[in-house]
Amino acid sequence: MRISIKLALLASAATLSFTLPAQAQTPAPAALAEPAQKPWLNANQSADARVEQLLKEMTQSEKFTLVFGHFASDGAWLNTRGDINGLNWSPPKESLHQSAGFVYGVPRLGIPHQWLTDAGVGVASQRGPNPRLRTVLPSGMLTAATWDRDLAFKGGAMIGKEARLSGFNVQLAGGVNLVREPRNGRNFEYGGEDPLLAGIMVGEQIRGIQSNNIISTVKHYSANAQETNRFTLSANMSDKAARESDLLAFQFAIEVGNPASVMCAYNRYNGVYACEHPYLLTEVLKTDWNYKGYVMSDWGATHSTIPAANAGMDQQSGYPFDKSNYFAGPLKEAVDNGFVKPERLDDMARRILWAMFNTGLFDKPIDQTTVSDANIDFAANAKVTQADAEGGIVLLKNERNLLPIAATAKKVVVIGGHADKGVLSGGGSSQVYGLGGNAVPDTSKYANEFPGPITYYPDAPLAGIRARTKAEVVFHDGKDVKAAAKAARGADVVIVFGSQWTGESFDAELKLDHGGDALIDAVARANSKTVVVLQTGGPVFMPWLPKVGAVVEAWYPGSSGGTALARVLTGEISPSGRLPVTFPASLSQLPRPKLDGDNSKPDLRVDVNYDIEGAAIGYKWFDLKGHKPLFAFGHGLSYSTFAYSDLKASNANGKLSVSFTVTNTGKVEAADVPQVYVSPTTAKWEAPKRLGGWDKVNLTPGSSKTLTVTVDPRLLGSYDTPSKTWKIAAGDYKVSLAKSATDAGQSVTVTLPERTLNVQGK
Ligand code: BGC
Repeated sequence: MRISIKLALLASAATLSFTLPAQAQTPAPAALAEPAQKPWLNANQSADARVEQLLKEMTQSEKFTLVFGHFASDGAWLNTRGDINGLNWSPPKESLHQSAGFVYGVPRLGIPHQWLTDAGVGVASQRGPNPRLRTVLPSGMLTAATWDRDLAFKGGAMIGKEARLSGFNVQLAGGVNLVREPRNGRNFEYGGEDPLLAGIMVGEQIRGIQSNNIISTVKHYSANAQETNRFTLSANMSDKAARESDLLAFQFAIEVGNPASVMCAYNRYNGVYACEHPYLLTEVLKTDWNYKGYVMSDWGATHSTIPAANAGMDQQSGYPFDKSNYFAGPLKEAVDNGFVKPERLDDMARRILWAMFNTGLFDKPIDQTTVSDANIDFAANAKVTQADAEGGIVLLKNERNLLPIAATAKKVVVIGGHADKGVLSGGGSSQVYGLGGNAVPDTSKYANEFPGPITYYPDAPLAGIRARTKAEVVFHDGKDVKAAAKAARGADVVIVFGSQWTGESFDAELKLDHGGDALIDAVARANSKTVVVLQTGGPVFMPWLPKVGAVVEAWYPGSSGGTALARVLTGEISPSGRLPVTFPASLSQLPRPKLDGDNSKPDLRVDVNYDIEGAAIGYKWFDLKGHKPLFAFGHGLSYSTFAYSDLKASNANGKLSVSFTVTNTGKVEAADVPQVYVSPTTAKWEAPKRLGGWDKVNLTPGSSKTLTVTVDPRLLGSYDTPSKTWKIAAGDYKVSLAKSATDAGQSVTVTLPERTLNVQGK
């Protein structure tokens, strides 16, 4: 059953609203005089120096102001919709409407307010009557499927700019939870199953966002890998497994993106809530990785004052989601009574201020009086999201060269998926409302319920196809399966859409909505020249696969996704996406064939044993078990062909470099993604091989390029818990150049000496 846990949580907060003391609602009184000098405003100093100057001037109550986050959506409105039971909180008047949060600054000292918005695909709006309409990137999963660092950066830079121009200086983007569970309803927000790919792609997005002098988060730290019982489950795994997988993804994302904040997750971790977990927050993040930013809680993820503060949480977010205003009055009491040291409060403030200085919040302040939609260049931004979509749409199957649609085709029949109206988006807090509104107004119960409304962006694939072919293009809505099959008969090509709406708060079955499988089956029986276009959050099963000629995975392709899709289908561009996630052939292949937990029992404190697969997530698990996936990690076809030559691997100065030449041997310009996998011959890893690196290269027919990929040494070693080091065993290692995780490709052997790296991989 799909239920809105988020709203259930809001409801449970309702009973406590009357006990909230006044300071939960109001900023610290600004009775103090402004200092004569504010040396910290001088930007020609290090962030560290500025923080120390400022901390000296701050009163304790001003420090408390920084650690306490408000929710910035209207409780009264949500209440009228039945979303919550009787809780009427009002957002601070300085906050931005229908947004995720607000934290007061200290005007006396020039500390700016923090205006917070979700999320990774653009400037989201919380549910309500007046959402802001913004450019929408494709899902995080699609961006990961581009394997294109530059596209990830540019997408981040674009949405960060829209966030800034919308008045926000904190963007809650940067979702890097690995796909341990292909049914996870939020997989669409994340970067796939591999720590290197996800870490780099999400890191690049964060770097792009922060290039606008606003803060980005990385989230949800850590192992928030399923939505079922997400507020109560315990994600259990060993230190070694975590360091080589989920934590490694965060480590890469932080190294690449330098996010100013980390969001601790809803779930428990080895029994303890992630937001009060000393190991996660203080030992790993702040000590081992020397992270200098701050930890904010997820909305509703704070469960205590003293344990959370002492474990290393720095800021309570969206307090009405929690059972108490833990980091307001209660934190003051805890400090006054000696349970939380004043130094810890200083450290919280120091980290938040450092993040603000280091990112540019002081030096490039937001001026709310100039905020206007008119400042946003929506036409330019549409091109950015379109380019991202074009890079991440994956051609999974293409028999008899059914795609691209032949120039000689006389009749094309397009069926289902509201392809005449628009393209699908994932649901939940990350929901961005697109320009032009919802192309298919939601008539389901989700119209008024989180994580709805089910939303389509008005960039119709049908119109895009029509504009690019001389063929007659007929549309059938697919509701009547028999009639759709009849319409398909005799067409030169049939393009049938299958959709799976996924969203925050519930997990998905790996299948299409609205009887999509039966529709595709019937259409394929009527016409073998059937192309399936999928819009899904992640992997789905394809019971009809042998019957169809071609399959295109379009994920959730964003607000210019219809145009991008049409360009791929008609061959204006060659598809170049590669799967960032394994598509399983059956549930029995998964580490947990049955999903743990039960969403109809939101208080269930279930234990999820992630030591079953440990660090062997996705393709690593499939390799280990000898399972044959439906489609492999890294797989994706092109309208061209590529040859690889001159593969060489050398290890010099502790750096493994792999070079090779890629040649476009086909007839059209196209991009390829050569992948480097590494395997030990004697050392024992969690799985036979790991992705060691990749590149993406665009080539005209006949042209070649020589590329060099370096392999991060952590990917050649194993993490040793007792010594907190990465150990590379001496011996031979196979270095393969391949087109996917199941392609044998070609390989060379390299001999590595024994080596020990510190916890940071240095
Ligand atoms: C989500 C976060 C989001 C926050 C604020 C939570 O439900 O898990 O990803 O940033 O809400 O909207």
